[in-house]
Formats: sequence, C-alpha cells, structure tokens
Amino acid sequence: MSNLSTAAYLVSSVLFILSLRGLSHPSTARRGNFLGILGMTIAIITTLANPGVFSYKEIGIAFLIGGLIGTSIAVRIQMTALPQLVAAFHSLVGLAAVFVAASAYYNPSAFNIGTFGSIPMGSLIEMSIGTAIGAVTFTGSIIAFGKLQGFVSGNPLVFKGQHFLNLLLGLGIIALIVKFCIDQNQELFWLIVAASFVIGVLLIVPIGGADMPVIVSMLNSYSGWAAAGIGFTLSNNLLIITGALVGSSGAILSYIMCKGMNRSFLNVLLGGFGGEQAASADGVKDDRQAKQGNAADAAFMMKNSQKIIIVPGYGMAVAQAQHALREMGDLLKAAGADVRYAIHPVAGRMPGHMNVLLAEANVPYDEVLELDEINRDFSETDVAFVIGANDVTNPAAKTDKTSAIYGMPILDVENAGQVFFVKRGMASGYAGVQNELFFRDNTLMLFGDAKKVCEDIIKGLEN
Ligand code: TAP
Repeated sequence: MSNLSTAAYLVSSVLFILSLRGLSHPSTARRGNFLGILGMTIAIITTLANPGVFSYKEIGIAFLIGGLIGTSIAVRIQMTALPQLVAAFHSLVGLAAVFVAASAYYNPSAFNIGTFGSIPMGSLIEMSIGTAIGAVTFTGSIIAFGKLQGFVSGNPLVFKGQHFLNLLLGLGIIALIVKFCIDQNQELFWLIVAASFVIGVLLIVPIGGADMPVIVSMLNSYSGWAAAGIGFTLSNNLLIITGALVGSSGAILSYIMCKGMNRSFLNVLLGGFGGEQAASADGVKDDRQAKQGNAADAAFMMKNSQKIIIVPGYGMAVAQAQHALREMGDLLKAAGADVRYAIHPVAGRMPGHMNVLLAEANVPYDEVLELDEINRDFSETDVAFVIGANDVTNPAAKTDKTSAIYGMPILDVENAGQVFFVKRGMASGYAGVQNELFFRDNTLMLFGDAKKVCEDIIKGLEN
C-alpha cells in the first residue's frame, strides 16, 4: 500500500509540474489547469485511501463545509476581486501551518515524532520554521486582503525606524527558534507565533497600492513554503513537493514582476519598498481642462489610421468590454489598419489579467504583445487606444520622484500621434496618482463605460 501511495503521489507531483508548465502560456493554460485538477484528485484519493485514516465522518463533514463555501465563493466572485480572494486563501494556508505545527508539538506521538517534551531536533526545527512562515503568511495576507478590498487604507504606512524594527524582530524570531529547539518550551512556541504575527503585519503595511501585485505573489510564495513546512511535519512528500513548487514559482513570479516594475527583489522580501515615495504623491488635484471627444470622432480617426495600438487596463475588466473591443479591432483590421494590443505586466488586478480576458474574446495571441516587445512602436503609431488603463501609461513614473509609481516602466502611449483615453471620468487609477497625459494636446478623452464606448465606436465604423 505504501509503495502504491508513493507511486500515486509521484504521478500527482509530475502532473503538478506539467500543470505549471501549461499555465505559462494562454494557449496551453486550459490543459495546464486540467492537469492540475487531475493531480489534485489523485492526491486526495490517495490520501483518503491511506490506512492511517481512522474515520471518514469528520473528513466528510469538513469536505462538505469547505466545498460548499469554496463553490459558493467561486461561483459569485468577480474576476476583478481575485487578488483579494487569493490573499484571503493564502492567510488560511498560513493559519493551517500554525495549527498543524501546534498539533504536532502537543501530540507528537500522533505524528511519529517522539513524545511531548522529547521531540527530535530535526522535527523541532521543521516545526518552528514552518510555524513562523505560516504565522507571517497569515497576518501578512490578512493585511493584503484588507488593502485590496479597501477595508484598510491602500496608502503606505511608514514610520521612522521601521526597517530597524523589522530587523530586530526577524533576529528575535531566529533566537526564539534556536532556544525553542533546545528547551521545547511551550511559551517559546507561542512567542514565535506572536512575533511572526507582528512581523507579518509590519512587512505589508508600508506597501503602497501600486506595489500590491508583487506582494500578492510574494505571499503566494510564502504560503507555498508554509505548506512545505506542514509537509515536513506530516512526513508527506507530496505536500513538501507541492509546497516547494508553489513557493518557488511564487518567488520566480515576484522576481519577474519586480523586474517588470523596476523594483528591488530584496526590498520586497524585507518589506516596505517604495513606501517613502508613495507617501507624498497621492490625490493631486488638477484644474486644467481635458479635451473631450466622442465615439464618432474616434471611429472616424481610427478608420483612417494605418497603425493602432490598443492598451487595455482594469477598466476593460470592470466593463467586461473585451468582446466589444475585439469586434472593434476586427472592423478596423477589415478597414486595412494594423491593430495590436500592448500589455503592461501589472495591468488589471492580477498577473495575466488582460491576457486572459483577450484570450476569452478570441483575440489572436500574435496580436497581443508585452511591454518590452511593443513599447518602441508607439512613436510610429497613429492611434493609441487606451481602454480602462491609467497607471500603466502615467509618465509620472518616469519623471516624478515623489510619485508612488516612480521607477515603474510604463507604456509610452504619449508618443503615438493621437491618444484616446476611454474611462468614465477624470478619476485616478489604483495608485491614486493624477495622470498628466489627460491634458496633453494629442489626447482626447472618451468618457463612458468602456463596453458602451466600444459599442458606439463599432456603430460608427459600420456606417
Ligand atoms: P488603473 O490604473 O487602476 O486604472 C483603471 C482606470 O479604469 C481607472 O482610472 C478608471 O477610471 C477606469 N475604469 C474603471 N471602470 C471603468 C469602466 N467600467 N469603464 C471605463 N473605465 C473604467 O488600471 P491599470 O492601468 O490597469 O493599472 C493597474 C494598477 O493596479 C496598477 O497601479 C497596479 O500596480 C495595480 N495592481 C495590479 C495588480 C496586478 S497583478 N495586475 C494587482 C493589484 C494592483 P474612471 O473611474 O474615471 O472610469
């Protein structure tokens, strides 16, 4: 039986690896998702078939409650709210790691790791590190959830000596872990938990709105390591492998996003990057008048353009405008224009958000280009059509050192001959920074819901 379950776990692990590989491109993502589901189904069945399972009643009840809650959330959740949902789920993984470690500490014989007070050193190290990572993940994810959901202010909370305090707490936790591994004292165990809860909060509060994407993927990574920690405590190889896969892929994604946003990876790990800048940049009012156009103007101009680049952002997702946008793009192509889509690495509210929506609307993959592939082409483009995007086009990122988004690479839409901004009003984007492009000579604002504006342009193109 044990050989069979080892083999089944191995199959699951391979399926998880293939799943990650599939998820790395929109054209293979569905297959990747399916392989992941298959791997998880095999893993669950194998675990349930383990002779060590005494009673299926409690497992069944937990399965039913969790399944019902999960299904009702999955059915109702808006795609734009996925980052906060992911953050909330990460917090549960963190808390689970703390609970499993506490159970193993108080009842080690159930886990085959000695008896209370005489747990082997190796298990104590695994247990205490897993607890610390889990506790950091728990509170860090709750704060991230609060910021993304708007329960906690998205503004960075910075104070003097913050980094020093983090360093002190970090060193304190290491000292507590060493002492706990020697003394096996329960006060020390709970002190590790408490200090890690505090540092989890301190690491996330200084992060400003625009930098939250990196934090969500970093917490994803932490939750993976916390799960690997649970795997060590439970001596479950599959959990160790899966946790390590989530942990390392989350860390790689964070690294890629840091590079994309021109942030320091080390600063993310330590918490609080960009906070000092963000504090002074938000909510600047501007009394200038932006030029306003309408759908008919846009249809006329684009019909007579050769090169058009569409820049989608969060507003396209809110309006679910992707299908109308694709239809508009098709009509422009039929009229002889070269139409392409420019995707910023943090456009929308989750990695790959725009790619998923455009793929759903059957926009051909070869028309969808990443920032570094297309950014130079704006200067040779007749029209940049910015639909529900704001921060990712804001030149303050290049010029204003006090801005929350300073240093983030942006799509240089202002270099196009004509820029259209489709949005409902003059509101700023997620980072709360005014976009000076709205007032440029070559900008026309097209006010309205993104889907409605696209539909009106389609009518104009068809006439
Ligand atoms: P944003 O800067 O947030 O701008 C979106 C714009 O869409 C808003 O200014 C809003 O203006 C407009 N809008 C909203 N609903 C609309 C609708 N129904 N129709 C038309 N327009 C609508 O978006 P972005 O340029 O995509 O940048 C993303 C931001 O989110 C970045 O700051 C990024 O750091 C942050 N973020 C990203 C992620 C990931 S992983 N992608 C995760 C968390 C945070 P109006 O209200 O005036 O219409």
